[in-house]
Amino acid sequence: MLQGFFLFSIFFWRTWLYSHVLFLLVFDLLVFRYRCMLHNFAGNIEMYGILDAIASGPIDALTSENSTMVGVGMSMEGIEQNPIVYDLMSEMAFRHNKVDVKAWIDLYPSRRYGRSLPSVQDAWNILYHTIYNCTDGANDKNRDVIVAFPDVDPLFISILQDKYSYYEKQVSRGPKLKETTESFEQPHLWYSTSEVIRALELFLESGDELSGSSTYRYDLVDLTRQALAKYANQLFLQVIEAYQSNDVHGVTHHSQKFLDLVEDFDMLLACHDGFLLGPWLESAKHLAQDEEQVKQFEWNARTQITMWFDNSDMEPSLLRDYGNKYWSGLLRDYYHPRAGIYFKFLIKSLEEGNGFPLKDWRREWIKLTNDWQSSRNVYPVKGAGDALNRSRWLFNKYLQSPDIQSLNEAAVKHVI
Ligand SMILES: *[C@@H]1O[C@H](CO)[C@@H](O)[C@H](O)[C@H]1NC(C)=O
Ligand SMILES: *[C@@H]1O[C@H](CO)[C@@H](O)[C@H](O)[C@H]1NC(C)=O
Ligand SMILES: *[C@@H]1O[C@H](CO)[C@@H](O)[C@H](O)[C@H]1NC(C)=O
Repeated sequence: MLQGFFLFSIFFWRTWLYSHVLFLLVFDLLVFRYRCMLHNFAGNIEMYGILDAIASGPIDALTSENSTMVGVGMSMEGIEQNPIVYDLMSEMAFRHNKVDVKAWIDLYPSRRYGRSLPSVQDAWNILYHTIYNCTDGANDKNRDVIVAFPDVDPLFISILQDKYSYYEKQVSRGPKLKETTESFEQPHLWYSTSEVIRALELFLESGDELSGSSTYRYDLVDLTRQALAKYANQLFLQVIEAYQSNDVHGVTHHSQKFLDLVEDFDMLLACHDGFLLGPWLESAKHLAQDEEQVKQFEWNARTQITMWFDNSDMEPSLLRDYGNKYWSGLLRDYYHPRAGIYFKFLIKSLEEGNGFPLKDWRREWIKLTNDWQSSRNVYPVKGAGDALNRSRWLFNKYLQSPDIQSLNEAAVKHVI
């Protein structure tokens, strides 16, 4: 990993992490001196990238005046996501000229799936102009509602006039760390969700021909996951909006829809080896040399992806959901019940006419987290189920109704 170029020029590390000196040292070395592609944090699963920057950044650095560049590098915190980004980046080490991404991406399905079809090629072109052209300057850190559930009083979540875009209510922020736990980080959205749903539709059109390919099925599951994740963020806002209008039926209805979605979502992820919790836990246990270590390593592995250990019974750690993952098993057994607790207290609060019991919610979800971290149940290490069938089913169930079309249009207006 050597000096060269710097793809994502805005460096963003969150203030609260400054106390973590080790991180800082590593980041200083990798990002400021060696200048590599820093594409991913914590191995979060989110389709994201800037293909044009990868296709030209290394060449610009190489050909700049007095360049001392001798190589390219990658310094992601986690790999095994966004294969297209790592494919293109790895190629750049051998290139002397900028890559024409349009031509490159037209050939991508043949290289990746063994054959291509016009529909899947069109789908990849849409993704190139949307998901893989993140030019809003924000570095991606996945805070989707399912995997990074807001730990706030629902009245702190503001719903703007042009609905379903939202931001954190201005709460006064003192220097105390405690106050940052009150905040709700808005999930990142930098593209038109309806265009991406269209790309998914095109993907599905080529499914009968391509679903024999495991890489196709991986991409299909990933894209369906991406579309559903953003849809879930919107559903969550419907729950909050109903709460804020004292509409207990609305809260009940929308929150049930959210929970059903999380369950269905888990079944989709279960279809492919690339989206399973099992391999993570089993590989940790595999390193152990005695029974004590098996327990310890499994606890470590479960803690790393949920909440780090500096919490109390009533106060969550600031590093909750830092290493969040869209993995089958984790959605069903952790994210789903956690959302259920929040919704339960929303309904209770409306029924009893009291404010949201933030302390009770915290006590319960922190306990859920601790219990899950120390449990020992075993999860599958092999994908099972027909990815194409489940993706089609989910597409029809969630992403086609007129309801979502209008939600999407509202979201697009805000994004652009
Ligand atoms: C390149 O090196 C020359 C000679 O040392 C120097 O005069 C010039 O300012 C350098 N250019 C840049 C862009 O650093
Ligand atoms: C990416 O977005 C920028 C800024 O909106 C735009 O100028 C550029 O043409 C886009 N590139 C692609 C490949 O869509
Ligand atoms: C999915 O599979 C089920 C059987 O498991 C079948 O009944 C259904 O028709 C299939 N759906 C699609 C969209 O292929």
